[in-house]
Amino acid sequence: MRIQDHPVLGPLPPTPTVTFTFDGVPVQALEGECLAAALWASGIRILRHSFSGRQPRGMYCGVGHCYECRVTVNGVRDRRACLTPVVAGMDVRSQPPDLLEEARPAVGGPVAEGRKPEAAGGADGS
Ligand code: FES
Repeated sequence: MRIQDHPVLGPLPPTPTVTFTFDGVPVQALEGECLAAALWASGIRILRHSFSGRQPRGMYCGVGHCYECRVTVNGVRDRRACLTPVVAGMDVRSQPPDLLEEARPAVGGPVAEGRKPEAAGGADGS
C-alpha cells in the first residue's frame, strides 16, 4: 500500500515501475524508491531473523540508523533496505540467523577488528 495523495506533498506522480525479486518472488517497485519502501508497499514486513532469539525483524527507523532492515542484495549481505535504491532485476534475500552466526566470533564476544560497519548488530544487538 502506498500513499496515493499525500495531504502536504500532493498526489503521487506517474512513475515507471521496475521488478526485482525478494526470496525468489517478483516484487514491483517504483523507479527510484528504496527497497524497504517497495517491500513495505508489497506487504513484506519480515526482512530477517535475529541472531539472539530468532525473532522476525523488519524496517524500524527507516533512515539507516538501526540496522534492523538488513538484507542480502545480489549476494552481498547486510545491505540496509531503507538506504538501498531498487534496481531492476536485483536479487534480494532475507537473512536467516545462520548468516549472522558466521559473521560473529562468539555470542557476546568482541567485534572483530576491521569489520565493516554494515555488518554491525541491529538495535536488538543481533
Ligand atoms: S530501518 Fe533502520 S537502518 Fe533501515
